[in-house]
Amino acid sequence: MTHVTNLISASDLKCEEIYDILNLAALMKEGRESYMDALKGMSLAMIFEKPSTRTRVSFEVAMTELGGHALYLNYADLQLGRSETICDTAGVLSRYVHAITARVYSHETVRELARCADIPVINALSDMEHPCQLLADLLTIRERKGDLEGLRIAWIGDGNNVCNSLILGSAITGMNLAVACPAGYEPDARVVARANELGSKVLITNDPVEAASGADVLYTDVWVSMGDEGEEEKRLRDFSGFQINSDLLSHAKSDCIVLHCLPAHRGQEISAKVLDGEHSVVLDQAENRLHAQKALLMTMISRQCDG
Ligand code: CP
Ligand code: NVA
Repeated sequence: MTHVTNLISASDLKCEEIYDILNLAALMKEGRESYMDALKGMSLAMIFEKPSTRTRVSFEVAMTELGGHALYLNYADLQLGRSETICDTAGVLSRYVHAITARVYSHETVRELARCADIPVINALSDMEHPCQLLADLLTIRERKGDLEGLRIAWIGDGNNVCNSLILGSAITGMNLAVACPAGYEPDARVVARANELGSKVLITNDPVEAASGADVLYTDVWVSMGDEGEEEKRLRDFSGFQINSDLLSHAKSDCIVLHCLPAHRGQEISAKVLDGEHSVVLDQAENRLHAQKALLMTMISRQCDG
């Protein structure tokens, strides 16, 4: 079986590792009770520097359903919040638990955790990436569209952490991605350069209609991410015209699916009609966080489990 050491960036995954995880996730979704003892006695430390509903709950339920245990650790309640170093924290947690997942402001924090830990570290969202979200997105797209390679995906809105992981994931799996952002909100240039090295077919444009035309999948996320709250007023102005609504949807394929990682703001990045409409698969996408992360945890910590 695939053994992934750390998941800090989507680019840590090879194409075959992604498919192994998706295949296992699909099996786990079918037989939700078949893996009840797979991680018996194993523990996952979950460090959260920012709020979360889906990531926290899906990881916690994932560990329960695999027979293990998850510990929710609020950053501010740890000695980390009182200036214990990231490295000391990683070293100590490595003596107690079998893997660490961390949601942090700075991508450097999760990289440092991975450098210092002796156990697998999973990025549960940083300012740069959200690779766990990517796995659920790919599972959802594959369920609806059969294959990933050659599909046309349009990202509309902020070139943010979720977009960065999608850019890398699309490059690895051979999907054709078009990203439409207002000027100044394009995805990180280092991510685009890495995607190009991986053979990416990403188009970056400032025109949502150009990106959405003929798309199999439309995808958006909030205009104001956690950590960007100070820019809210300016962002709401700058992103006007970048909403996924019925008009934009009419440019996509008639069987186009609409993704949103959630939480959503109806009337901002997406209209209520589209988010709650027949093209939307956002609840499947949220559910798939659980199945994809169960498969990810199995690939990351099962070797230790096997002894
Ligand atoms: N999509 C996602 O990561 O949601 P949460 O912020 O609720 O975890
Ligand atoms: N881009 C969003 C994703 C939330 C799941 C944020 O970072 O706040």
